[in-house]
Amino acid sequence: MDEAFITLEFKNNELYLIDQRVLPATYTHFVCKNYEEVEFAIRDMVVRGAPAIGATAAYGVYMAAQQYATSPRFTTSLKQACDFLAKSRPTAVNLEWAIDRMWKAYEAVSKEKMETILSALKREADEIRSEDIRTNKAMSRIGNAVIPQHATILTHCNTGALATAGWGTALGVIKEAFYDNKDIFVYADETRPRFQGARLTAWELTEAKIPSALIPDSAAATLIRDGKIDLVILGGDRVAANGDVANKLGTFALSVICKAYGVPFYSVVPISTIDFNLPDGSHIPIEERDKREVTFVGDVQVAPLEMDVFNPSFDVTPHQNITGIITERGIIRPPFRENIERLRKGETL
Ligand code: MRU
Repeated sequence: MDEAFITLEFKNNELYLIDQRVLPATYTHFVCKNYEEVEFAIRDMVVRGAPAIGATAAYGVYMAAQQYATSPRFTTSLKQACDFLAKSRPTAVNLEWAIDRMWKAYEAVSKEKMETILSALKREADEIRSEDIRTNKAMSRIGNAVIPQHATILTHCNTGALATAGWGTALGVIKEAFYDNKDIFVYADETRPRFQGARLTAWELTEAKIPSALIPDSAAATLIRDGKIDLVILGGDRVAANGDVANKLGTFALSVICKAYGVPFYSVVPISTIDFNLPDGSHIPIEERDKREVTFVGDVQVAPLEMDVFNPSFDVTPHQNITGIITERGIIRPPFRENIERLRKGETL
């Protein structure tokens, strides 16, 4: 069963994005008319989630090509636009991955006619988007195998259709299990400070009518200690070659608690989220965001304005704390480095 909403859609030469900054109170679209607006939409988190920002940036590259179509410096301008888009958010590798794919599509196409270049870039952006949905469905089927017939699941941040081109990664697995008639109950962390769990995951769980409850992030430890959670399943923004996973802030703490109490801990990521060139998680760039995200909740001030703030958007979970990483070509289990290397070579696990 698919969602009734479309996270990102290119139509009438504009990119329509569900404005995730204002959900669930308001359902509206942010319409990008040029690649500069696409960059803003990613940076300001109109659209967020690793696969979703990758697909969005791909359309940004296509829009840049349209804007520069008559420029005598087409190649240089397109390259600058790619670099500009790539800097919008640093942690999720899907952004660089998608832009790189667009650039390779440009390099591969005949440069004789601009029309040919533009249609090759549009085709590649469409393919990145539809491939992501197919990949998510494949991961869901594979991931469903780790969900018991009766399970209480804890998840963090938003990994659903909103975080991808459609369907979702970890939330995709949860939906697959639910539609497979498994008796599941989901606890969603609210995910401070941007509340992706409260605003977005809770909205998606409600839309899908999946039995669930929202919890403050700090309630997770108590539920896990008390044996109320059968498994934790969440997403990932960049996976290093040794299996360390960068994901939304709070993921690392959850992994430590799961390890202490023997609760399985899974990350669900498309292979496009694996950075095969990065030896371990210490090299993953961690985005730090504006202090206002912590000192305000919406428009309400909740801390003194002069207070210093440390606001990393992500943290890194060491592979030793991870039970498995679910991908579209199988589940990566220890030894992670060897099995990730097998994926790099094109094998199925
Ligand atoms: O800051 P966000 O909302 O872009 O962070 C998103 C996450 O951390 C998700 O868990 C991750 O991108 C995986 S989504 C399929």
